[in-house]
Amino acid sequence: MRRPLIAGNWKMNLDRASASALARSLKNSMATAGAERDMLLAPPYPYLAAVAEILEGTRIILAAQDVSPFDSGAYTGQVSTGMLLDLGCTATLVGHSERRAISGDTDEIVHDKVVKALDAGLHTVLCVGEVESERERGEAESVVRRQLSVALDGVRADQASLKLSVAYEPVWAIGTGKTATSADAQEMHHEIREFLESSFGGDVSARVRILYGGSVKPSNAGELLAAEDIDGVLVGGASLDAESFSAIYSA
Ligand code: 13P
Repeated sequence: MRRPLIAGNWKMNLDRASASALARSLKNSMATAGAERDMLLAPPYPYLAAVAEILEGTRIILAAQDVSPFDSGAYTGQVSTGMLLDLGCTATLVGHSERRAISGDTDEIVHDKVVKALDAGLHTVLCVGEVESERERGEAESVVRRQLSVALDGVRADQASLKLSVAYEPVWAIGTGKTATSADAQEMHHEIREFLESSFGGDVSARVRILYGGSVKPSNAGELLAAEDIDGVLVGGASLDAESFSAIYSA
């Protein structure tokens, strides 16, 4: 009932030529792949327009890596939901751990961005996840619950049902080569599903896709995706190579 969503977060990588080449190559591999999965690509802001042009007319979802919580005005360096929509972007990541750790995105800022993105009708991929010390102290679940409850405060059930995905990305697994076991990931995804059920009801929680992220590669994607509550993956490093991302897409 939940179509798997295979998402690539290109982070601050590539240049205009290689971003376009990667988009073209994924467009070609999607054209021959089955339609039972969705693909989402999140290029850096400056390449969104070029990638949008390449992806036009395909089913591939174009996403930003972040969005401003404001509409317009004196917010130097920020990009609004309206600007993203104007570019043909229909989705955005929000609350990625790198934004939380490096760019000062607090739970409250993440909340404001989630609300702004959902109100604008963007498909919103809310990223949550604990750092290693929190996991060692047995706090992983409470940290993820706190991130979810602040971020989703006031979000309506119909918005969650139609436009929300959650990405569980344990910070210690990002870019480290360490992946959560599919059993550990499934356990957290089940917790997230329960949180969604208590917030929005069973019909909504059954529809929201919960993605896993953190050192996903062709060799581990199949096992992760086989878990009951893992509805997709959010891939960093391995999404920069057309061959490995295509292999994950069809894993
Ligand atoms: P890696 O796949 O490089 O570990 O990155 C995961 C990630 O942060 C995706 O958003």
